[in-house]
Amino acid sequence: MDGAQIGTVVLEEQGLSVLLADGSPAYFNSWWLRDNCPTSFDAETRERTFDIFHHATTPRPAAARVEGDVLIVDWAGEGHVSRYPLAMLAGYAAGAPRPDPADLPRRAWFADHYPNLTRVAHADLLESGGERRRWMEALLVEGVAIVTDMPDSDEALTRTAELAGTIRPSFFGAYFDVRTHVKPTNLAYTSKALELHTDVPAEELAPGIQYLHCRANSVTGGLNLFLDGMAVANDLREADPEAFRLLSEIEVPFYKEHDDIDMRARQRVIELDRHGEVSGVTLSQHMADIFDLPQRVLDSYYPAFVRFGRMLQDKKYVMRFTLRAGECITFDNHRIVHGREAYSATSGERHLRGTYTDRGELRGLYRALVSEGRFR
Ligand SMILES: [Fe+2]
Repeated sequence: MDGAQIGTVVLEEQGLSVLLADGSPAYFNSWWLRDNCPTSFDAETRERTFDIFHHATTPRPAAARVEGDVLIVDWAGEGHVSRYPLAMLAGYAAGAPRPDPADLPRRAWFADHYPNLTRVAHADLLESGGERRRWMEALLVEGVAIVTDMPDSDEALTRTAELAGTIRPSFFGAYFDVRTHVKPTNLAYTSKALELHTDVPAEELAPGIQYLHCRANSVTGGLNLFLDGMAVANDLREADPEAFRLLSEIEVPFYKEHDDIDMRARQRVIELDRHGEVSGVTLSQHMADIFDLPQRVLDSYYPAFVRFGRMLQDKKYVMRFTLRAGECITFDNHRIVHGREAYSATSGERHLRGTYTDRGELRGLYRALVSEGRFR
């Protein structure tokens, strides 16, 4: 180290070392320090207002010292002094990502999960931060929860979804009505069985959180099928690591064509988070395009794909139940795979109204809720 010792601070070529409150030494780069001077952030908007790109010279401390629990840096040639709480610096000393309260460990669930599903009453959700937190935690940890006692109105769905984000449309529109349509554009709009799928992978960014508000359900048949795609993918990882690798690395095409639209996107069937853990799956037989991969690759891809698809149907995973009028099932569309059995269209009425919000926005609202506004 060829720097100059000033109290507990050592100036170095490109930064400085300082003893933190716990006595441990920590190094900080001068550009990083200058960029993150507490005066760089606007108190009202909380946004960064300092622009490092307009800083004409390389930041260099002329002097630095610790007073109490604050590091004070006098920047050479600028007449600017920065004051950094040592507690703030300690959070970045290890170079590790800032702790994320929304990074909750996911919990896999199986076919017997129905009685244990998180249930929250609509009115409680609107009134209680604690209930909103319980609901959001279920969405983050288990990927699914049921909102009960929903008023029989379009507005009830909007109000529920807007608690976890902004309504985000798909190319079917901002809302969709799952019932028998006269001229269906989608299997969901018929009374036929709907194979296990995640919604709309033909969009580059498939919808994040899905809400299905059951407005009426008096038909014979039409059992709802839901399963935790993460649970299946984790079991595949154990049983057949090579199949898991193929499904998590190779992108396959999805599409949706109808009179005036030609949607296309490529997705991985198994989605991993930045820790390498399974965070979701993407499946849709009715939107899977013809796989345009080299045929030799398909020699190994198809057996992996079919093995996974067969595992999904296993009794071990599929939760079967009837969504009742007044219930709204809310779930992570990138993790929870859903479908339904066929029903008799003449036996009664079946109407589910749906919409979506974004996964990232759910996480952002959850973080704010748990930290009660104190984000740093
Ligand atoms: Fe669906």
